Amino acid sequence: MDITNLEKIANNLVAPGKGILAADESNGTMSKRLEAVGIEPSEENRRKYRVNLFASDNYEKAISGIILYDETIRQKMDDGTDIPDAMINRGVYPGIKVDTGTKEFEGRDDEKITEGLDDLDIRCKEYFEIGARFAKWRAVISIGEDSPTDSCIRANAQSLAKYARICQEQGLVPIIEPEVLMDGLHSAEKCMEVTSKVLRMTFEECEKNGVHLPGTLLKPNMIISGKMNKEKISRDQVAEMTVRCLSENVPSEIPGIVFLSGGQSDEDATAHLDIMNKMDKKHPWELSYSYGRALQASALKQWATGTPESSQLAFLKRAEMNHKARYGKWGMELE
Ligand code: G3H
Repeated sequence: MDITNLEKIANNLVAPGKGILAADESNGTMSKRLEAVGIEPSEENRRKYRVNLFASDNYEKAISGIILYDETIRQKMDDGTDIPDAMINRGVYPGIKVDTGTKEFEGRDDEKITEGLDDLDIRCKEYFEIGARFAKWRAVISIGEDSPTDSCIRANAQSLAKYARICQEQGLVPIIEPEVLMDGLHSAEKCMEVTSKVLRMTFEECEKNGVHLPGTLLKPNMIISGKMNKEKISRDQVAEMTVRCLSENVPSEIPGIVFLSGGQSDEDATAHLDIMNKMDKKHPWELSYSYGRALQASALKQWATGTPESSQLAFLKRAEMNHKARYGKWGMELE
């Protein structure tokens, strides 16, 4: 394991003012998003929409790395350059989603386990050769009447840790993403309780599997009440509870925490990160973003209703807002 290089990549991914663009929607998810804005969900349309984003001016000011899906990492920009090479030429790390999706956990329809460990070492080797330097694996935990069970959390934690170890052996920085979903009626306190348990078990398994934490990034959810819960907590409370949860459960060796947006509005995702970075409370890790929807939703809308340029401008606007939030220097007046 090349520890020095892993640490260097992990630290560069969370360099000051920078975060990650998650553009790794599976073909199914990306197709649904295109269809939702009235665009035919073909391979070429997925490519066109994405390469337009990747051709935006100066996005590298705010974006250190882009997570791609298997289809995209093999595609080309409009000028014929391989997509990963186009990123590398701009000092941006290509990343790759390496889990292969989820299935029902032990026959239950309310819990899921993420798959993809079988030939993972071989796939990582190939992705490294193509140019990838980091990877992502997403575990999904939902809060319901009888879920999550400890056994489902444990099984997902074990897979996350095994994935992370395999990636590091192949030179890829693993992003560990245990997402506690926002769907449901639960309170923010319940989200905090479940997220704490998920993080605890995940790092226990990382230790058992010899994962090198200084060469690893964590991609968690923020602490938020369920979407269907009418009692919303304030932005300040989200930020305070999230930092408290992380401080209690994330080892200090992790260089960076790159949040997912998980269905939050663009502004909420930016505001929450901004408040966390404004806090006096000191923490050992960088607090950054690895947003999918919160960086792309307005760009996708413009792609469908505006022009390629207006789509790029919408993306650059969200990138700039989150860049400011990295320093705790965002404000409503900038929107
Ligand atoms: O796995 C989830 C994505 O990488 C992040 O997407 O910010 O839309 O939740 P999101």
